[in-house]
Order: sequence, then C-alpha cells, then structure tokens
Amino acid sequence: MKRFIALLFLSSLALMAFDGDKAYKNCIMCHGKTGEKVALSSSPKLNTLAEQDLQNKIQAILNGSSGMSKKYLSMHKAKLKGVEEADAAAFAAYILNLK
Ligand code: HEC
Repeated sequence: MKRFIALLFLSSLALMAFDGDKAYKNCIMCHGKTGEKVALSSSPKLNTLAEQDLQNKIQAILNGSSGMSKKYLSMHKAKLKGVEEADAAAFAAYILNLK
C-alpha cells in the first residue's frame, strides 16, 4: 500500500512537471516574449486569446486537427517536441501569464 501511494505521488509529480519556460523558448522568435506578436504577419496574438481557446488550439496542433496550413502545422509540431496533449492546459495558462 505504501509503495502504491508513493507511486501515485511520483506519477502526479510527473504530470505537474510541465516546463513552460523550456517549451515556450521555441516560440518566442515568432510569437514574442509574452505572446504579443503577430507571427509572420498571420498568427493571432497568443496573449489576446481566451485560455480555453489557446488550449484548444495547442491541442489541435498536437493532434493534427488544427486548420493551419500543412507547412505551419509540421513546423509547429517540431517546435512542440516533448509537449503532450495533456500539457496543453498548463501551456496555455503559462503563456497567458507571461508578462
Ligand atoms: C517560425 C515562426 C513560428 C514559431 C517558431 C511558432 N509559431 Fe505559432 N504560429 C506561427 C504562424 C505563422 C501562425 C499562423 C499560422 C496559420 O494560421 O496558418 C502561428 C499560429 C499559432 C497558433 C494559432 C493556431 C490557430 O489555430 O490559430 C498557436 C496556438 C501557436 N502558433 C502556438 C505556437 C507555439 C506554442 C509555439 C512554440 C512551441 C509556436 N507557435 C511557434 C509562427 C510560428
């Protein structure tokens, strides 16, 4: 039982271990330090999106259902390496808290 609880504890730590700094580093050059830029004259300003909307968009990129062009979709997937769909909510919250 003790071991089971320890395992549960460790796996919840792993879930919480999303590293926004590391993940967002790959986005800054286009989306800006705080998500304030229109990337390549075409993206929305990430910091003006509602949190749920941003989460959905990140999830859609990760699972390939995003409506963005193929070229941008594969580029985003490469930039999102290591980010899981389960991290989308934490990532959206992280981006919207950048100042
Ligand atoms: C090379 C520049 C570039 C980089 C790097 C980049 N993006 Fe983008 N991003 C764009 C462009 C351009 C668009 C608009 C694409 C379109 O609508 O077809 C976009 C759109 C988006 C959108 C909106 C998608 C939608 O459905 O409207 C989100 C969310 C996003 N990017 C998140 C990210 C995240 C998170 C990262 C880092 C992991 C990242 N981007 C890295 C250029 C970039």
